Amino acid sequence: MHPDRTNLAPGLSISRLVCGLWQVADIEKDGSTIDPEQGANALQAYAEAGFDTFDMADHYGSAEIITGHLLKRMPVGSRRPVAFTKWCPEPGPMTRDVVRRGVQERLERLGTQKVDLLQFHWWTFEHPAWLDALHEMQAMKEEGLIGALGLTNFDAAHLGLALADGIEIASNQVSFSLIDRRAAGDLSVLSEKTGVKLLAYGTLCGGFLSEKWLGQPEPASIPDWSRSKYKRFIDTAGGWAVYQGILKAASDIARKHGVSISNVASRFILEHPAVAATIIGARLGENEHRDDNLRVFTFTLDDDDRALLGTAFAASTPIPGDCGDEYRKPPFLTASGDLSHHLDAIPSVYKAVPVPGRKDRWRVSSGSIWEPLAGYSRAVRTGDRILVSGTTATHGSNRCVAPNDAGAQATYILDKIAASITALGGRMEDVVRTRIYLRDASQWEPVSRAHGRFFSEILPANTLIEAGNLIGDYEVEIEAEAVLEAQ
Ligand SMILES: NC(=O)c1ccc[n+]([C@@H]2O[C@H](COP(=O)([O-])OP(=O)(O)OC[C@H]3O[C@@H](n4cnc5c(N)ncnc54)[C@H](OP(=O)(O)O)[C@@H]3O)[C@@H](O)[C@H]2O)c1
Repeated sequence: MHPDRTNLAPGLSISRLVCGLWQVADIEKDGSTIDPEQGANALQAYAEAGFDTFDMADHYGSAEIITGHLLKRMPVGSRRPVAFTKWCPEPGPMTRDVVRRGVQERLERLGTQKVDLLQFHWWTFEHPAWLDALHEMQAMKEEGLIGALGLTNFDAAHLGLALADGIEIASNQVSFSLIDRRAAGDLSVLSEKTGVKLLAYGTLCGGFLSEKWLGQPEPASIPDWSRSKYKRFIDTAGGWAVYQGILKAASDIARKHGVSISNVASRFILEHPAVAATIIGARLGENEHRDDNLRVFTFTLDDDDRALLGTAFAASTPIPGDCGDEYRKPPFLTASGDLSHHLDAIPSVYKAVPVPGRKDRWRVSSGSIWEPLAGYSRAVRTGDRILVSGTTATHGSNRCVAPNDAGAQATYILDKIAASITALGGRMEDVVRTRIYLRDASQWEPVSRAHGRFFSEILPANTLIEAGNLIGDYEVEIEAEAVLEAQ
């Protein structure tokens, strides 16, 4: 018996249980490196058992090199393994050269002519160069260097924006488990509408969703990085007792079907219509759970099972926000915890400059050709007030992003407003007023929803106006005003 398969993109058949290789980085964290031939032996055993799809990233230790050794052994035909990797650059200008070098390095480490699935991660949407990176990768896909293009840790709004800007996306790799069910929300709705598939990771919460932890007391500390991340998710979802309730429900269901808790955890996610596959981390040369994981394909969950899980979920607190937020905003639910230092270290796309001759005034410009021509700044700070000009979805000097999609344009605009306010020393939480101008009043809802994703807890005063004749392809224009907290 082999795992079920699915087509992720035309011509790309994958195992529905993908073998995750982040664990290679964990094994190598003391500076040692797994011998690539021995590593390839371990991968070959997975591939021959039908677990022939491997998930890697630029920062997963020597995982790409090990898989490259395997691909050399099994280069062609129906037995050729499938290699997913990720490129996770630091935000900065994504020129043609930068992007090509990033992708080329993946090809060299894998020793292949084409990456089967290249997944892109971006740390902060306040830096808009992610769209340049995706357009360049799309060009490389058209040249045959990338088989399919994927994203990782993108929320529904930015996935929608990428699609509306003409990028062909096959998949989005996100956290999705019995504990973290955010992906069942807006992302699944978008997935159903657009066909972009979800690849679920963390489905076993690093091993927390297994018999090993059933009825166990809460550990005082967790030495393992990956597990400490999932413990943060457990804490945020309501704590140890709530988690034990979900584990107990999964255990009852598992006993009924004669399978394991991990099988139930994987099955629940695999039965979700948006999900193409779940990724299960594998510790090469250490623990193997292949035989157990194969049992995922021996049963299906029935209404009673779902009702039992539903009751356990009702006692939990939904993980806040959308997928990927754990990397970008509080509560940071990553292995290293609070990432705000990392995010603070990322250079802003805008530079605040003091206004000559004024003691208490700064401004930022976005480089639009119209700012010097028409005589205005992107945003101005005077004392504790920040005023952001009417902002459109202009990318670079004059390209309109996501033509015809008012909701996607609003998302892009609000990222730009956030970046302007940050550059001037404020935060979106300081915004006290926004004003939205719409070309077509019928588009009020997607724009309002985009506004709500940024402001549902900040609740500034807001005005929505039909402006009719916005210039160019712009569907929407937004302005904002912020008042900084007294220091
Ligand atoms: N895109 C991203 O940002 C991102 C983030 C995290 C992970 N990922 C990807 O997703 C992969 C998996 O996620 P993850 O590493 O976070 O953890 P995971 O898959 O939730 O957990 C993996 C751990 O679960 C245990 N396990 C596996 N099968 C089991 C079974 N049948 N019964 C009991 N325990 C079982 C193993 O622990 P033991 O070895 O201790 O037994 C294994 O190391 C990674 O390798 C990586 O490829 C991507």
